[in-house]
Amino acid sequence: MTDRDKFKSKIGVILATAGAAVGLGNIWRFPVETGQNGGAAYIIIYICFILLVGIPVMLAEFVLGRHTYSNPIAAFRQLAPRTPWVWVGRLGVFSGLLILSYYSVVAGWTIEYSYLAITNAFDGGTPQDYKDVYNSFVSEPILPIIYLVMILLATHFVIVRGIRKGIEKFSMVMMPMLLVMLLVLVVCSVTLSGAGEGLEYLLKPDFSKITNKTVINAMGQSFFSLSLGLGALCTYASYFDENTRLVKSAFTIGLLDTCVAILSGFIIFPSMFHVGHHVNSSDIGPSLLFVTLPNVFHEAFDEIPLLGYLFPVVFYLLLVVASITSTISMLEIVVTYISEEYKVRRSRASLFVTFISVVIAVFCSLSFGVLKNFTIFGMTIFELLDNMVSNLFLPIGGMFFSIFVGWKMKKQLVVAELTNHGNLSMRFVSVIIFILRYIAPIAIILIIFNQLDIISLLS
Ligand code: PHE
Repeated sequence: MTDRDKFKSKIGVILATAGAAVGLGNIWRFPVETGQNGGAAYIIIYICFILLVGIPVMLAEFVLGRHTYSNPIAAFRQLAPRTPWVWVGRLGVFSGLLILSYYSVVAGWTIEYSYLAITNAFDGGTPQDYKDVYNSFVSEPILPIIYLVMILLATHFVIVRGIRKGIEKFSMVMMPMLLVMLLVLVVCSVTLSGAGEGLEYLLKPDFSKITNKTVINAMGQSFFSLSLGLGALCTYASYFDENTRLVKSAFTIGLLDTCVAILSGFIIFPSMFHVGHHVNSSDIGPSLLFVTLPNVFHEAFDEIPLLGYLFPVVFYLLLVVASITSTISMLEIVVTYISEEYKVRRSRASLFVTFISVVIAVFCSLSFGVLKNFTIFGMTIFELLDNMVSNLFLPIGGMFFSIFVGWKMKKQLVVAELTNHGNLSMRFVSVIIFILRYIAPIAIILIIFNQLDIISLLS
């Protein structure tokens, strides 16, 4: 495996892996979930899950990837030959392909919205106008497809350049830019009048709003946000070198991902409260980014037109960047697998996967328009893939990753990885192994049961 590419620097490892984790899940799904689940109390529970389940499962993927220096399928095959464990890897790679396909549809929308923001198209619209623009755009047959192809091609061009020159370099430029954009938006938003109410909503917990469902949703979201369960992080870890400190990296990435999610809340809620929007209403659903926010931004800064113009421009560009650093990780899992398994060049493997993904993504995109009425189990193609992958495949994958590393892999190998062969402190090691053995699998089974219930209700 000496010819395998590797991340060059510690900071490259952190930024690339954090880039995989930070995405629409942080800037879109997290604020929506927070709004629907009662604000600060939800955030506290979310953070507990990141610490208790998310980071340990991330470590399970890291251990597996770095120990074997190979893609998830080969990793399971190497450590448990001729057993069904290889199917966990296969499910992961397959999930990577599906998630890449439907995620790139929404990622594509963020390009259109950046364009609308840059051309000042939100100026002077009424709330109904924003709704109309969104509905007619997503149901159009051609334009959204052009955008999703742009996202997938951009992803492809980063991937073909390899780990160090592609993923690492791209993340080293894009992630700091993303953090700066995020901070600038936070400052603008929290200084609006009435922002205090929005901040209070995010910071003052009301535990009476917590239900079982809140707890389970927080767990599911922590999983999605950290990109766990499909082997993306296992694949990235196969490009870490032997000096990378797994535990420290996992905590840093978990912290960064959580900060981005919470800061997105600091952008969205103060500006919503400023213009008198109520959270918990339909405004906070999936259309938050594309219907509610253009309206909010437009009203929030109506006295400072320059800011009213720049704020949405920066916000939507932020979304484009965050989406691409995530789609890169999804494509990377499949490309690593195909190029290693079938001994083809990365560029060929990537072209092939990108092509397949475009085909699936086209169907996902059309499911907002001409294929709207084509449903399976009562869901459109897009909804079906999203539900199946994020609510079922990822938790199942994550559960098996943690069971494998907790129970099946030799304990001394796990300890050796976590401590860099005895060179690092053992402080957290037994806690991590305990969580991987008991807490994570049980917690994840709960998510899965809950999701199955939702799915049966939907169908
Ligand atoms: N974590 C990404 C986000 O927050 C989504 C993702 C899930 C990426 C699974 C890769 C794998 O947007």
